[in-house]
Order: sequence, then structure tokens, then C-alpha cells
Amino acid sequence: MWLTQLTCRRFRCLDEIDFTPGPGLNIIHGDNAQGKTSLLEAFLYVCTARSHRTLHERELVSHGDDGFSITAVAQRSDREVTLEAHYWQRAKRFKINGVAQTRISDILGRINTVFFSPEDVGLIKGSATQRRRFLDMEISQINPRYLVALQQYRQILKQRNSLLKQHRPDPTMLDVWDAQLVPSGETVMRERDAFVRALSVRATEAYARIAADEELALAYAPDLEDPASFAATLEQARETDIRRKQTTRGPHRDDISIVIAGKPARIFGSQGQQKSAALALKLAEIELIHDQAGEYPILMLDEVLAELDAHRAQHLFESLADKVQCLVTTTERELTEKIGGRPYRRYQMTRGRLEAQ
Ligand SMILES: Nc1ncnc2c1ncn2[C@@H]1O[C@H](COP(=O)(O)OP(=O)(O)O)[C@@H](O)[C@H]1O
Ligand SMILES: [Mg+2]
Repeated sequence: MWLTQLTCRRFRCLDEIDFTPGPGLNIIHGDNAQGKTSLLEAFLYVCTARSHRTLHERELVSHGDDGFSITAVAQRSDREVTLEAHYWQRAKRFKINGVAQTRISDILGRINTVFFSPEDVGLIKGSATQRRRFLDMEISQINPRYLVALQQYRQILKQRNSLLKQHRPDPTMLDVWDAQLVPSGETVMRERDAFVRALSVRATEAYARIAADEELALAYAPDLEDPASFAATLEQARETDIRRKQTTRGPHRDDISIVIAGKPARIFGSQGQQKSAALALKLAEIELIHDQAGEYPILMLDEVLAELDAHRAQHLFESLADKVQCLVTTTERELTEKIGGRPYRRYQMTRGRLEAQ
């Protein structure tokens, strides 16, 4: 699939943007703080109802304004899809092909995207929270049922935790929350397990192509070995939970184990290995979305080129070949070595204005 048109109004520092990228490689050039990342962020927001930089929509509104709007039109193999996001006086509204939507889970996956920025190395060397966020975002994109279960799980967990904060929490109420937490928690664990298994195969393949003589191995590292044991585990942990005033066991403690050449990449990986692993994860995600959605997603690369050496950059573009639409931002002027002789469309971003060149 490919983005044919993106329009934004009053989003961050962006002026009136009407972006009509081509199906292949699109390079958005500009100095720092001109609005390049904001452009990708706007596209990400309209597709996922989330920004990668903030949880607060009001930060996305151009200073001094009351709201923003974003429209994206994408061409899928058999149809065109239009997504709209409007934020006005603290209310957000979404439309698909002109029809108002009430659930975020209905919006996700209509236009599939993969976003890659230098911060994604945090997936390898950062905390488990970052890896869980990655799982949650990516699984939700290909499996809307997952988001429904996840939202239920989070909501019940919050209520259970606030009960645990009370002096001598009522055991019957705890029973009620436990009974509700178990089914959504089990779904979350099972879907994560299936996703990481599929991702792992693709990531190992991708990594082998980037770093020929080493192996990358990914595995789901759940807090509970067996999802079916969730009810029993909650029961066993109840006294501890009451003492610590929080739910100590469950998928909110999950992680992904990432091992390069037999050693945990988070601790022992060199910077180069960690960057290659982050790249392999993203390439794996692209293939996985293709497997599940039947079409390649749209890839956004935010300032990634500067981070990748010529070898990794060339590898990246070779493996994408002409299958994937890429929206690439960069401050670098000289790109020939990194993108090879590939044709591309070039745009210039200056103080929130985008110009095709
Ligand atoms: N809500 C907002 N309204 C207006 N300007 C904003 C808003 N949020 C961020 N900015 C400004 O937008 C500018 C461009 O940001 P960014 O898109 O990250 O640029 P780039 O990726 O080109 O470096 C920054 O100078 C930032 O201060
Ligand atoms: Mg930027």
C-alpha cells in the first residue's frame, strides 16, 4: 500500500501541508527543527491515534490554536482508504472513508505503517516497558482483537491496583477483579507469544543478512510460563500483592529476550550489534505485516540514514527493493552512497513548509 496524499492543518509547527508522495522512495530534506519529524508524526497519528513523542494531543496542536486536523489517503491493492483525525477543544474524532468511528481498534490497521527512528535502538538496550509498548503497538496494528483485550486488561489492572492500595482490601472484590483479569490477560499472553514467534523467524533471517556471521534470537519472555496458570498465580501471589499494594504477576511484567551470538544484546551487545538488531526487528515487522495483511506497510525512516553506515543503509534499501513506499527524513545532503542509484522524489522542509523539488 502507499500513501498518496497527506494533508495537515495546525499540527505542531507545520503550516498547511499537502504532501503527495510517490510510491517508492521519498526523501524529505531539511535542517534541524524545521518540521520533518512532525510530518511523519502526523501520518503516524492519523493511522494509529497515537504519537510516538507524546500521549497528550494538546501538545500536537500548533501553539496558539485550538485543534488540528490530519487526512491521509492511501492506495491499497484493491481499494483506496481515507483516514481523518480531528482534534478540537480536547475532543478527538476519527473517520474512515468519511464515516465517524467510536473505537480506536477499528482505526488501526487500515493503513499499515512501520516507523523507524534512531531511538528504536532502545528496543534492544532499553527497558522492558519499551519492548512491551512495541509489542502492544505492533500486534494491535495487525490484530484489532488484541487491542480490545489489552484495553480491558489495563482497565481491570488499574482497578485491582487501586483496591490493593486500600487498607485491608475486600477479598470478595479481589475475587471479582481476578475473575475479570484472567481472560483478558490470557488473550494478551497468547497473542504476544504467537507474534514474537513469527517475528523471531523474520528477525533472525534479516539479521543474518546484515551481520552474516552472527545469530540473532528473539523469544517471548513472559512473566508467567503458561497463560493457563494465570488464575492460580494470582491466587498464590495475593498475599504478596496485598503487602506490596500492587499486582506483582501478570503480562504487565512481560519482556522479549534478545540474544546476539549467544549473549543478551541489552547488556553485551556492541553499539553496532544493537543498531543492526533494531534494524532487523523493523525489517521483520515489515515482512510480518506483509504476511498478515497481504500487502507491504508504508515505512517511515526518521533521521535513520545518518545513523546507519553505508553498508547497513544499502542493505536496508536492497531488502526493501521496490516493494515498500519509504518516507525518509534527513538533514544530510549527500545521500548517493547510502541509497545507491535509486530514483527518489525529493522534498524540502523549511519552517513548517514543504516544497517538492
Ligand atoms: N505544538 C507545537 N506548535 C508549534 N511548534 C511546535 C509544536 N511542537 C513542537 N514545535 C516546534 O516544531 C519544530 C520542529 O520540530 P520537528 O518536527 O521535530 O523538526 P525536525 O524533525 O525537522 O528537526 C521545533 O522547533 C519545535 O519547537
Ligand atoms: Mg526530527
